Amino acid sequence: MSEARAFRRIGVLVSGRGSNLQALIDSIGRSELQATIAVVISNVPGVAALDRAAAAGIETLVMPHRAWPSREAYDEALAAALRAKGCELVCLAGFMRRLSARFLDVFAGPVLNVHPSLLPAFPGLDGPGQALAHGVKVAGCTVHLVTPELDAGPIVAQAAVPVLPADTHDTLAARILVEEHRLFPWAVGRVLDGGWRIDGRRFLDA
Ligand code: GAR
Repeated sequence: MSEARAFRRIGVLVSGRGSNLQALIDSIGRSELQATIAVVISNVPGVAALDRAAAAGIETLVMPHRAWPSREAYDEALAAALRAKGCELVCLAGFMRRLSARFLDVFAGPVLNVHPSLLPAFPGLDGPGQALAHGVKVAGCTVHLVTPELDAGPIVAQAAVPVLPADTHDTLAARILVEEHRLFPWAVGRVLDGGWRIDGRRFLDA
């Protein structure tokens, strides 16, 4: 492992299936994403994402949010755990919980979220379902920097897919997910590489 790669330590937060975590693991395995996953943390015990991490030999932690007395206390403990593992960037890979300003203050590094819609359309839960219900003709996914406002931080990358007349929730979600798996590792590498700046809401080359 090269020096540069050893220092690009990332933490991944999950709550469920973990297919985006797997995309990060696979991208690192192919040496496309130059990074090391230092820890995978789940707020839900027993989820498939934890099995995927363990199968890849990655350290896991389970931190059930209900075990902490408040959102702030949980977020502070979560950020402290990521810092203790030497993470310089955090990926939210299907982490289904809002992070407060306290988390961002204590972690003090970039936090990236992958979301299954073309933000700012359809923030919150079930992006594919919202897209179908609204009748849009184009859907997609977004990777953005996390800010205290839900699904609203500066956009690093987006990918679009068509919504087809015969689509069901599952077929559309699957088409979007293919793009998430491609986009998220790329965006993580882009942010780790540096040479970017934020101008207002815009993520731009420095
Ligand atoms: C993904 O589609 C991700 O974009 C979405 O949850 C799914 C997790 O799948 N995240 C959100 O909706 C966050 N607002 P995964 O566990 O297989 O990666």
